[in-house]
Amino acid sequence: MSPAGLAAVANEVVLAGRRSIVELGSGVSTVVLARLARRLGGRIVAVEHSPGWVGWVREALERDGLGDFATVVEAPLSPHPLSLEGAPWYDAEVLARELPAEGIELLLVDGPPGYGEGMELSRHPALPELRGRLAEGAIVVLDDAGRPGERRILDSWETKTGWQFDRRAAERIAIGRQPSSSSYSSQDSPEAPSAS
Ligand SMILES: C[S@@+](CC[C@H](N)C(=O)[O-])C[C@H]1O[C@@H](n2cnc3c(N)ncnc32)[C@H](O)[C@@H]1O
Repeated sequence: MSPAGLAAVANEVVLAGRRSIVELGSGVSTVVLARLARRLGGRIVAVEHSPGWVGWVREALERDGLGDFATVVEAPLSPHPLSLEGAPWYDAEVLARELPAEGIELLLVDGPPGYGEGMELSRHPALPELRGRLAEGAIVVLDDAGRPGERRILDSWETKTGWQFDRRAAERIAIGRQPSSSSYSSQDSPEAPSAS
């Protein structure tokens, strides 16, 4: 994700106190968020379809002594009943087994890759599949939110789930909140410094 998008996610971790993080699509962001988890007492579970990237991210985490704060779950892509136009998603059985059953405070959707033929809508199952595992007041961050495929995904999520997404063009992300959420945001955190 872009540096600005990652900074926005880091704000949610540091200022809003989101400690249980699930990331779909691992990479450098996984290592950055694991560092925050070590400092602040959280935990990140990253899901990755590519064996090569699984190896790279696990090695990077080990090298930095972050193994206790981050886990990389390898999940191959396969057909999913909630996909749009047949795009593949992560193996639902692997995720059902390996992800926290409840209490996820931040779901970061940066995978599967949205490029390549038939992959544009591949991130669609994320919210309908995992919403039951989210904590009250959780947020969902979708990266690459300005691309045509992600814009269709956001429209579908809003229509089908009632979640509302704030589309942030400069950061190339959209941040979604539950309709019943009492506006749990970084501005509400008692630890957040007041704006100057
Ligand atoms: C959009 S990337 C995820 C990037 C990750 N969340 C980050 O911001 O560092 C989607 C997929 O591309 C692969 N990937 C990860 N980091 C990459 C990179 N720096 N360049 C190219 N592909 C990458 C992985 O298979 C990952 O699941």
